[in-house]
Amino acid sequence: MTSLALTFLTQSAARAELALERALPTPDQLPQQLHAAMRYSVLGGGKRLRPTLVYAAAAALGVDDAELDLPAAAVEIIHAYSLIHDDLPAMDDDELRRGKPTCHIAFGEAEAILAGDALQALAFEVLARDCHWSPRAQLAMLRLLANACGSLGMAGGQAIDLAAVRQQLSLEQLERMHRYKTGALIRASVLLGALAAGCEESSKPFAALARYGHELGFAFQIQDDVLDVLGDTEVIGKPQGSDSARGKPTYPALVGIDESRRL
Ligand code: IPE
Ligand code: IPE
Ligand code: MG
Ligand code: MG
Ligand code: MG
Repeated sequence: MTSLALTFLTQSAARAELALERALPTPDQLPQQLHAAMRYSVLGGGKRLRPTLVYAAAAALGVDDAELDLPAAAVEIIHAYSLIHDDLPAMDDDELRRGKPTCHIAFGEAEAILAGDALQALAFEVLARDCHWSPRAQLAMLRLLANACGSLGMAGGQAIDLAAVRQQLSLEQLERMHRYKTGALIRASVLLGALAAGCEESSKPFAALARYGHELGFAFQIQDDVLDVLGDTEVIGKPQGSDSARGKPTYPALVGIDESRRL
C-alpha cells in the first residue's frame, strides 16, 4: 500500500472515531447499561473501512466537508450493529471481536440484541439530522442505507449464510450471499460519499462508483473468508478458524484457498 493510501486510512479512521463519539449517546444517560454496550461495540476498534470509503468517494469527486461525518458515522454504526448480531449464539456464536469479548459475552445476550437494535435506529437518526444537503439527496441517502442493510442487503445475506450452514452452495449462490451480506454495505458506503458530495444518481461518476463499491465489497468478503483460514487471531481480533469449525459457506471451503486468493 502506498504511504498516501495509508495516511488517508489513518486520518479517516481518526476522523471517524470523533464522528462516532459525537453520534453516540453519552454513557451517563439512562439506560446506562444499554448505552455502555453500544459504546463498547462501536468505539475504539475496527479498521473503519466503511467511513474511509465515504470520505474517499467524496474526495474522488473533489469534496471534503464536515457533514461527511454524518454518513461516515451512520454506516459504521450499522456495521457495528451487524457485528454484534453476527456474533450472537444464534448466529456465529463467537466470543472475540476486535480483540475483546463480543458484546453478548461482556453484557449478556439480551443487552447485545438491544444494543444492535438501538444502533440500527441511531444510524438512521444520524443520517436524518439537519444538514445542508438537498432534501432529495438526503432521502436518497436514507433509501440507499435502508436497502443496503435490509432483506436484499446485509440482513438477507446473513439469512442465506445461516440457512447454508453445513450445506453446499453453488458458486453463484455463494457470490450472491457475499454481495448481500457484506458487499451491499460497502457499496453503500461509497455511494453515500458520492451523494453527500452532490453526485446525481443518474450520473456517470455515480455509476462508476457503484460498480467500484460493488466489486470491492465482494472482494472484501472473499478476503475475510481467506483471513479466517490464514489469519492470526491476534491480528484479526476474532477467532481464526471459526468458519470451518461451524461449517460456514465460504470461498476457501468451496473453491480452495489458492483460487480464493486469486479472486
Ligand atoms: C468484518 O468486517 C465483517 C465483514 C463484513 C467481513 P471488517 O473486517 O470491516 O471488521 P472491522 O470493522 O475492521 O472490525
Ligand atoms: C459477517 O460475515 C457479515 C456481516 C454482515 C456481519 P462474517 O460472519 O464472516 O464476519 P466475521 O468474520 O464474523 O467478522
Ligand atoms: Mg457471519
Ligand atoms: Mg461472523
Ligand atoms: Mg468472516
